[in-house]
This record gives sequence, structure tokens and C-alpha cells, in this order.
Amino acid sequence: MHPRQAQSQSLEPQQPSASHPERDPAFDELLTYLRQNHGFDFTDYKPPSLMRRIGLRMHEVGIGTYRDYTAYLQANPNEFKPLINTLWINFTGFFRDTLSWEYLVADIIPRILRQKLADAPIRVWSAGCASGEEPYSLAIALAEALGIEQYQKRVRLFASDIDANTLHQARQGRYSALKMANVPIALRERYFKPLGNYYSVCSELRSPLLFLRHNLLEDPPMSQIDLLVCRNALIYFNQDGQMKTLVRFYFSLNHAGVLFLGSSELLPQADRLFKLLSVQHHMFRKVEKSSLTPELLIQGLKRA
Ligand SMILES: C[S@@+](CC[C@H](N)C(=O)[O-])C[C@H]1O[C@@H](n2cnc3c(N)ncnc32)[C@H](O)[C@@H]1O
Repeated sequence: MHPRQAQSQSLEPQQPSASHPERDPAFDELLTYLRQNHGFDFTDYKPPSLMRRIGLRMHEVGIGTYRDYTAYLQANPNEFKPLINTLWINFTGFFRDTLSWEYLVADIIPRILRQKLADAPIRVWSAGCASGEEPYSLAIALAEALGIEQYQKRVRLFASDIDANTLHQARQGRYSALKMANVPIALRERYFKPLGNYYSVCSELRSPLLFLRHNLLEDPPMSQIDLLVCRNALIYFNQDGQMKTLVRFYFSLNHAGVLFLGSSELLPQADRLFKLLSVQHHMFRKVEKSSLTPELLIQGLKRA
């Protein structure tokens, strides 16, 4: 029987609230099930956002309690894929938050280039890159600053995400006219080829990019990074998860490397590891000496 027919209870999963401050233990059991059976650990994510997303999927299949949904997942192994697709929020766009990108182009990229010897490599990481608009925006900004030849010679651009599906789209580098709306026409003509109803990233822009599946909370960070862009991913992590990731970013960045966070991500913990370069655009520079003890730094680096 489809669970929609089997359910007579409310379809709203229980969430902690002022009147129900206790967290539903069945929610934690569901997370334990996902960790033990599918290897996805959501311990460091914010519960309310997870509950909202899982609730959406439960509503779609007509299930009202976490306990019934865990049983449904056990009985229907194919259910894991749509659930996980609901959990990763892949919304993104080219030059998302245009004013911040203007600042990056006018101030931060020239500053990074000034600090480099003429032929020195430039290593950039777009972490939580979703379907690729962010790393391709970075690629365009760097190609414009350096010229396409120097860009191809010197830049190494890592683009990572936990979600294999969205990474597949990123690797393809094909975007609809609607998705391209925020790319100025001159840049679109320079770096994309029209392909039917789509625009395809040109090979010169693509060649320095390396797409890889990477879990910010578990995998070792990229090293010797000059510019680390991680926007709108940390916002889904709880304080422990944010701190753990910031410590990894600290080790990832070169001396004076720059961290660019999302427009709602002004994280108080970042003060101990980074100095604000722009409060408006959420850009930070690595500090010489962090105020964290070596023990705390190392703890942040440990695998989950
Ligand atoms: C809202 S999108 C942000 C995309 C892009 N950075 C931007 O700001 O437009 C968040 C991305 O973070 C990814 N993500 C979530 N948890 C992650 C983790 N633990 N490790 C790596 N990526 C993660 C999601 O799959 C998703 O693609």
C-alpha cells in the first residue's frame, strides 16, 4: 500500500518549537540510519533546515512521521536518491550578489595578483560550487584580469561539491539563456559558444578547472589556495560544523589568502582566524597567527 493511503496522522513532521522544545528522537534515529546505511553524516548541519527539507520529501510521498519515513527508506532503497536531492540545496547563479563580485574584480583579484611573482601559479577554490556558475564566474574574472594565455598558464581552479549530480552539470558547463542573464553580453560572447538553446563554456576558459567531489566536513582541504570562495554552504552547518570548516579553510589558504563567504555568512567564529577585508562583501584575509590554541586548530582538522 502507498504510504499516502496508510497515513492518517498529520503530514507535518514534528519540529522543535516554543511549545514543543524537545527534538523528536525519531528525527535523530533517521539521521543515524542515513549515517550508518548510506554514509551521509548530517551531525554538523542545522536541524531546522534539515527538518524542513526532509519534511518536504515526506510530504511528497505522503508520510507524516520520521519513524514511518525511516521504515519507508528501509523498505524502498530507491527513496534515498530523491531524499538526498532534496537535502542538497543547489541554488546558485553567475556573479551572484553582483556588487560583491564587482568588489572582488576591482579590489581583491588585483591585490592577489600584485602579491605574486610574474609567473607564479594562482590557486583558487570554489567550495560548494553547485552547478558551476560560481567557478565559471571566477574563471571569467581571472581570465579578464590576466588575459586568456596567462590565465591558462598560471591558474588552477578547484571546484568542489558534495553532490555528484550537481557536479555533473557543472562539468558539462552548459547553461540556458535564463541562467546566463547575469553574464554581461561581451563576456558571454567571449567565453561561451551558443549550442541550440544553451550556451557552452569555451574550452580555453574550462581547461584550468578541476571539478571534484569533496565533503567540506570530512575531506582534507585543498592546499596553498590564494582565493577561497565558499558561499551559501556554511549557512546550513551548525556552529561546530562552521568552526571545523573555517579551521580547514585557515590551513588551506596561503599567507594573506582571501576567503569570500556568502551574503548571509558573517560568522563570529571567523574573527579568530581571519581579518575582515570588507564587512559589506564578506571577504576575509587569513591572520598571521590565529587566536586558537594549536590543540583546537588540530581538533578542527580531524576527520569527522
Ligand atoms: C546554495 S548552494 C551554493 C552554491 C554557490 N556557492 C553559490 O553561492 O551560489 C550550496 C552548495 O553546498 C553544497 N554542500 C552542502 N553541504 C556540503 C558539504 N558538506 N560539502 C561540500 N558541499 C556541500 C550543496 O550540495 C550545494 O551545492
